[in-house]
Amino acid sequence: MDCKNIFKSRRAINFFDRNKKLDREILFEILNLANLSPSSMNLQPWEVIVVESPEKKKILRECAMNQPKVEDASVVLIILANLNAVENHIEKILEGKNEKQIEGTKKAIYNLYGEKDSLKRKIFAVKNASFFAMSVMLAAQACGVESHPMDGFIEEKVKKEFSISDDYIIPCLIALGYRDKSKELKPRNWRREITEYVKFV
Ligand SMILES: Cc1cc2nc3c(=O)[nH]c(=O)nc-3n(C[C@H](O)[C@H](O)[C@H](O)COP(=O)(O)O)c2cc1C
Repeated sequence: MDCKNIFKSRRAINFFDRNKKLDREILFEILNLANLSPSSMNLQPWEVIVVESPEKKKILRECAMNQPKVEDASVVLIILANLNAVENHIEKILEGKNEKQIEGTKKAIYNLYGEKDSLKRKIFAVKNASFFAMSVMLAAQACGVESHPMDGFIEEKVKKEFSISDDYIIPCLIALGYRDKSKELKPRNWRREITEYVKFV
């Protein structure tokens, strides 16, 4: 599928075919494509939990306002924004730099992304993990797999059930799978005209 058609055909799919499984290989292809997402200072503050067992999907559904697609989809990704990405990945960012560059880069990173518990740090992590999440959905579409993003879930409950520490924020869940073709896909939801919000200065 060409890139324009990927954008045009992606929809938030409410009805997944419970009998159609997503191959591991295709899931890895999707994640490898999304892994090419850009990130601030290339710090890549995202991680993924793939929820695939029926038992775990049932638990996740209970955390997610009982949304049936959580159980119907082949897998559901818990997208994690890692608040420790600066500390975890800074060494890699500094590789090959001289002392002066290292000092400058460290200063820039901590100025931009703050200390671990700061609001700046949370915004940094969620912003970048959300770019990754969008890439997952577009990569899935390119691989013939449909998706549904969700923020209708209780974060504390998901963290408790899936042993996720407070070093992470969960920007969204993404259901992946194949649409149940016996159900009608409603026309795409309303979009504003770009002329309503795009300004040239
Ligand atoms: C971050 C995010 C969270 C969302 N959460 C939910 C959700 O919990 N449940 C739901 O039914 N739809 C959810 N949606 C789907 C939107 O309602 C949907 O994308 C929007 O209506 C546009 O439809 P389309 O994606 O088919 O174009 C979410 C979308 C995004 C981007």
